Amino acid sequence: MSDVRLRCIDCNAEFGHDEVIYSCNECGGLLEVCMDAPKATFDDFSKRAFGVWRYRELIPIEEGAEIVTLDEGGTPLYRCDRLAKWAGVRSLFIKYEGRNPTGSFKDRGMTVGVTKAKSLGSKAVACASTGNTSASLAAYAARSGLTCYVILPSGKVAMGKLAQALMHGAKVISVKGNFDQALKLVMDISRSMGIYLLNSINPWRLEGQKTLAFELVDQLGHVPEVVAVPMGNCGNISAIWKGFVELEGAGLIREKPRMFGVQAAGAAPVVEMLRKNLERLSPVKAPETVATAIRIGNPVNWPKAVNAIRSSSGLYDSVTDDEIIETQKMIACLEGIGVEPASAASVAGVRKAVLSGSIPKDSEIVCVCTGHLLKDPEEVISVCGKPIEIPPDLKAVSEMIRPEKAPQLPA
Ligand code: F0G
Repeated sequence: MSDVRLRCIDCNAEFGHDEVIYSCNECGGLLEVCMDAPKATFDDFSKRAFGVWRYRELIPIEEGAEIVTLDEGGTPLYRCDRLAKWAGVRSLFIKYEGRNPTGSFKDRGMTVGVTKAKSLGSKAVACASTGNTSASLAAYAARSGLTCYVILPSGKVAMGKLAQALMHGAKVISVKGNFDQALKLVMDISRSMGIYLLNSINPWRLEGQKTLAFELVDQLGHVPEVVAVPMGNCGNISAIWKGFVELEGAGLIREKPRMFGVQAAGAAPVVEMLRKNLERLSPVKAPETVATAIRIGNPVNWPKAVNAIRSSSGLYDSVTDDEIIETQKMIACLEGIGVEPASAASVAGVRKAVLSGSIPKDSEIVCVCTGHLLKDPEEVISVCGKPIEIPPDLKAVSEMIRPEKAPQLPA
């Protein structure tokens, strides 16, 4: 893959694919990985197992590299008729990223990012994280024998994610600050100490995450009208959009979807910027939301996300914590799909957009649900309450299971 290079999205300066840089040496802009459009078809892909590496020709990792994998991607696309009715739309699918090896979409990025780290000869990797990135990096570092450091905002990382990072043997550092401060620290440390940085500012991560777009086309047989994605640091929506752009460039699709970026109301700098039609982001200084995964006030990838939304004639909105929690319950109770709060933001945003008329009722929509319910058990107990305790006797049990006490599902 001699045509692979890094390119600055602002000034178009180009750099070699084996340079360890995370921003443009000329102007400081974000980098993306580019390559010439490959000659491959969905028929070629279909001969391989369903997952990230099915699309090998579209992933710019050099031939012969030792791939670090836990069989990521290949996640289900659930048709959700009851949820569609609740949201008021004709057709709604959930792309359930909770089914990845560590329970979130981050694994798509880490299989490529950690493979790149190995091929560059790195011995140690690091990230800042609201939780899922650290869980995923810790697992892939373990799989490949790399030392892993993760920096987390103290007290704001869901228990399941923290448990994963600890058990996979990462050195976990908790800072008394928020994610944005943790990210700045890890960026400084990785530069000064030569540790390979695997936050989504690293464009190789996004090369793995873009495969979600390829899978959607594989699963649906066509391109959906709208793809709704929760936004935090804004890497994922950018990656998925890049996937569609590349499919079009390779002549594999003719149209692209509208990208719908959804943020939590207490952490919505990109949505605010788009609402006011500004050219630059004003960071939110003290972001707050129940969806701790997307509790981010200064997302590094905002220029890529804004480009994805603007160039796809896309949509953007923020949803309140109450809307997130209600939607999380609906996804769980109406469809049997367990997602963490940040994931529910995509569906909550879609329902709002259908109600307000900005998405037509007869649309076909894919909501990306980014992480598993069990990531954040403490949130579940706080919004559902603890189970009722009874003495161990028949009378007390029969009292509890009388029909009028049965749980009531929405119609
Ligand atoms: N959903 C979940 C479950 C996440 O963990 C994240 C990001 C997002 C959505 C937003 O994705 O940042 O690409 O816009 N979590 C990061 C982390 C920040 O550290 O785990 P994004």
